[in-house]
Amino acid sequence: MKYQVATSTKEKVIRENDFIVSKTDLKGRITYGNRIFVEYSGYELGELIGAQHNIIRHPDMPRAVFKLLWDTIEKGKEISAYVKNMAKDGSFYWVFANVTPDFDENGKICGYYSVRRKPRPEAVATVSGLYRAMLDAEQKAGARDAIAASTGILTDLLAKNGVSYDQLIFSL
Ligand SMILES: Cc1cc2nc3c(=O)[nH]c(=O)nc-3n(C[C@H](O)[C@H](O)[C@H](O)COP(=O)(O)O)c2cc1C
Repeated sequence: MKYQVATSTKEKVIRENDFIVSKTDLKGRITYGNRIFVEYSGYELGELIGAQHNIIRHPDMPRAVFKLLWDTIEKGKEISAYVKNMAKDGSFYWVFANVTPDFDENGKICGYYSVRRKPRPEAVATVSGLYRAMLDAEQKAGARDAIAASTGILTDLLAKNGVSYDQLIFSL
């Protein structure tokens, strides 16, 4: 990855009233970022515009979460997800993100945007454990079967509790 830096254990906790906003084109290239996005990501706005949104991807994030995200928004639906992001200096920050498609006047998807706020610490504790198990499964399964393996962990959890993904996410 172009901007890869060493991860650190330093956490940035989002302020209560902050909203981190960004927009992308259809391919996930950043077209807009608000001041708060610039602040937490640690990049200059000029470095962010035109870059793939995975510029702030944290290696602790399971690939299956982004697969679910893209599958959902490409169908024209919104998704909410807990995401651990990595700033330019390697520090991390957790967000509760809502990602939504943007439609043109003909009803065709013309881009995506995301609004994120501070997640509840209890939710982060639960999600961290789930993501760790999903990441382990991805690493054990190897690149080809990674997403299927970790999606299986998520779907098993949902089935066991008799809830949908959205019900799980909003119950945390
Ligand atoms: C509007 C929008 C916002 C996104 N926000 C993030 C984000 O905050 N952090 C992140 O890691 N990926 C985010 N993504 C997903 C990335 O595009 C990408 O799928 C993800 O970082 C995984 O990267 P990889 O497929 O290169 O592994 C976002 C995508 C869209 C469309």
